[in-house]
This record gives sequence, C-alpha cells and structure tokens, in this order.
Amino acid sequence: MTENRTIRVGLLGLGTVGAGVAQILLDPKGRHPLLSELTLHRVGVRSLHKPRALHLPPGLLTTDLTALVQDPEIDLVVEVLGGLEPARSLMLQAIAQGKHVVTANKAVVARYGAELFQAAQDQGVYVLMEGAVGGGIPIIHPLKQALGANRLSRVLGIVNGTTNFILTQMAQGRGDFATALATAQSLGYAESDPSADVDGEDAADKIAILATLAFGVRVSREQVYCEGIGGIQPVDLRYAERLGFQVKLLALAQRQGEALDIRVHPTLISHDHPLASVQGVQNAIVLGGEPLGEVMFQGPGAGAGPTASAVVGDVVNVVATLRANSGYHPLLGAPVATAIPQLAMDEVQTRFYTRILTQDQPGVIGQLGTCYGRHGVSLESIVQISTQEQLAEIVVVTHQVREGNFWLALEEIRQFPAVAAIPTVLRVWS
Ligand code: HSE
Repeated sequence: MTENRTIRVGLLGLGTVGAGVAQILLDPKGRHPLLSELTLHRVGVRSLHKPRALHLPPGLLTTDLTALVQDPEIDLVVEVLGGLEPARSLMLQAIAQGKHVVTANKAVVARYGAELFQAAQDQGVYVLMEGAVGGGIPIIHPLKQALGANRLSRVLGIVNGTTNFILTQMAQGRGDFATALATAQSLGYAESDPSADVDGEDAADKIAILATLAFGVRVSREQVYCEGIGGIQPVDLRYAERLGFQVKLLALAQRQGEALDIRVHPTLISHDHPLASVQGVQNAIVLGGEPLGEVMFQGPGAGAGPTASAVVGDVVNVVATLRANSGYHPLLGAPVATAIPQLAMDEVQTRFYTRILTQDQPGVIGQLGTCYGRHGVSLESIVQISTQEQLAEIVVVTHQVREGNFWLALEEIRQFPAVAAIPTVLRVWS
C-alpha cells in the first residue's frame, strides 16, 4: 500500500528531458505539494561513465533497466528514453509489475498505444503521456477531461517545435535550413535523428495521438499522410509572405462523414489565422467542437524544461491517484493555501504612459524630465505629439519604476504653472 509512505519513482533515461525531470523531482520546494511525497529512487541510463551536467545523489544510476522496471520498491516508472525499443518492452514490463507509467514517447504511443493502454487497464494502472504532444502545453488532459462535453470535429496545429523554429528563422532571413537546424539541435529541440522532425514523422506521431483522443477512434500511424519541410526554399517563404501567408508544418485531423482526414504537410496559412503568428519553437493546437466552438492552446513545444513540466505534471497526477485510494482526490480538492501579504500599490514596479497638456513654451519638457528624475523615475521616452487649442500634448513613457515615486513626481508636475491638465495615466505591461 502506498497510501501513507513515500512514493518511489524510477526514471528511465537521463537525456535532455530526463535531466529536466530529475532536476524538478530533486527540487520540489515551491512546486505542487504532492511532489514532496515522492523520491527519485533509481535512474536507468545506458552508460554510467557519460559526462553529465546534472549531479545526482550517489547510487541512483543503474544500467540495468530491466531490474529498474521490476524493482518491487518502485511505484511509478517515468520513461523518457525515446525510440521504440527497449522503451516499449520496458513500459510493458513495468505495467505487468503493477506500476504506473508516465512517458513522453510519442513514437511508442502512436504505434503501440492500444497495446500499452489495454495492458495498463488489465493491471489497473495508468499510462500517462502529457509530454508526448506539444512539449509544455497541457493538451492531453484537456482532451481527456475538461473538454469531455464536446463533440470534437477537428484538431489542427503546429506540433513540431524544430520545424517551426527552422521555418521562422528562414522566414526572418536568419540563415538557411542547415544553420537553423543546427541551432535547434544545440538548443535541445530536435530529435536525436532530426529527420523525424524535418520529414514530418514526429508531427505525424503527435497528430495520430491527438486524433485518437479527440475522436475516440483507433488511428493507425500508417494512416497519416506525411510530407516534410525539406523541399521548402527561402524564396517560397518570401513569396508566401507577399501573398499574405505564413508557411507552417500543419498537422490536422478532421472528420469527413464516416472517414478521417488526417495529414501532415507544409501549408500556407493566412496571416489573419491565429496559427500564422505562432513563431519559433512554439507549438499551438486548435480544437474545434460543439458546443465549444474553437479553442487554441499555445506554448513552448520542445526542450528540456517544457517537456519535463508536462512529464512531472503527469507524475503529480499519479501521486494524487495513489493518495486518492484513501478516499479523497488531492487534485480535485482546492489546495489549502497559506496566506501571503499583498504588495502595497506604492511598492509595485511598473511602467507608465502619461498624457500631459501644457503651455507650449520653452523649458517645459526639461522641467518635466528634471522632476521625474528627482523622484527616481527613469523615462523611456518623452515626446511632444501635437498642439491642441494652443496647448502642447506631451506623452511620457517611463521605464519600470516604483509606483509610489511615480505618483509623487506626478503630484508635483500637476502643480507646475505650465501644466494645464493630465487627462490620462495608464500602466504599461512589459
Ligand atoms: N523534436 C520535437 C520537436 C521535440 O521539435 O517538437 C518534442 O517532441
């Protein structure tokens, strides 16, 4: 029984995502309180001697991955090895041992999801996979839970960060395909074999998973029509832009009568479509259904931190489920929060926009600047925009300043003989 004791996690893989996951699990302070109820018990790696930036407590590493998934002390296995084998077999073994599994492995889920989920159901455990699609964007849980009222009719999106990064770089004239790909790899976005990204295979895995969940149908991975971005030239991006489009690697799945239209290919998207403004490594997924209409999820689609965020979110869910066996589900109840003092408005740091009407005479802008400066209010710009009924209209934008100082300066400015009115003060978000 795990109701009261610490929950033990076995982590398979310590690559980009694995290291991100380990870092979070070893440093739970300030995160969800359920993360303090687990320990990282074992970490399975291919080599003990590979140099690693992350320093783990001694004795955690093992190369015996089979022993890890069979270790009776481990409650939950997190699989972030990538690749089809041995990841698939290890997950099946973990399930057979009655362990819950959290994975970010879209290739395995897209091809062997039915096998994994059936095995998990038979054993009464869960296989969670938020990290498999969309990096840090929560999309799997909304599809499984919060959107349950809807009849979904389509899913479309940009689900590969590497190709979106490459297309964005090329569209902005920041280098050719090879340079952009090398940068994406160095930032930890690309798969170890980047052809999975570039040829659209990674996106095809992800849309197969999303379609399965959205429509509750079995989607075989081979069904997904797939074209990559290899043939796109910078000139095509320029011409598309001139015609009012952005080129994106679009993954889509939609119901067409009794059939499913499911494909991945480079696509011209009109500038006024929300997906057109999704840049760089960002992913975005639009779900359409009844009665909701359309909703778009956007966020960082690749990289250690975002993917680890999704994976550990699943870990929290498993811990909550184990604790809920004692009768109360900690994620459905609102957390009992501790009080925190509110920052007084005078202490808030913000930027300000102010429109001031003054006599149009020499020295006024100088006086304003001097007064702001005396109160420690640093200005980003001060411009005389126009003259209205013999009054000069001056617009001042500050840098981040302490709100209390700003108002002291403004009260003084209000008293200047040359100042006729201060019609508008707005805060600027930055
Ligand atoms: N290589 C993938 C991408 C990482 O670029 O989106 C996350 O699956």
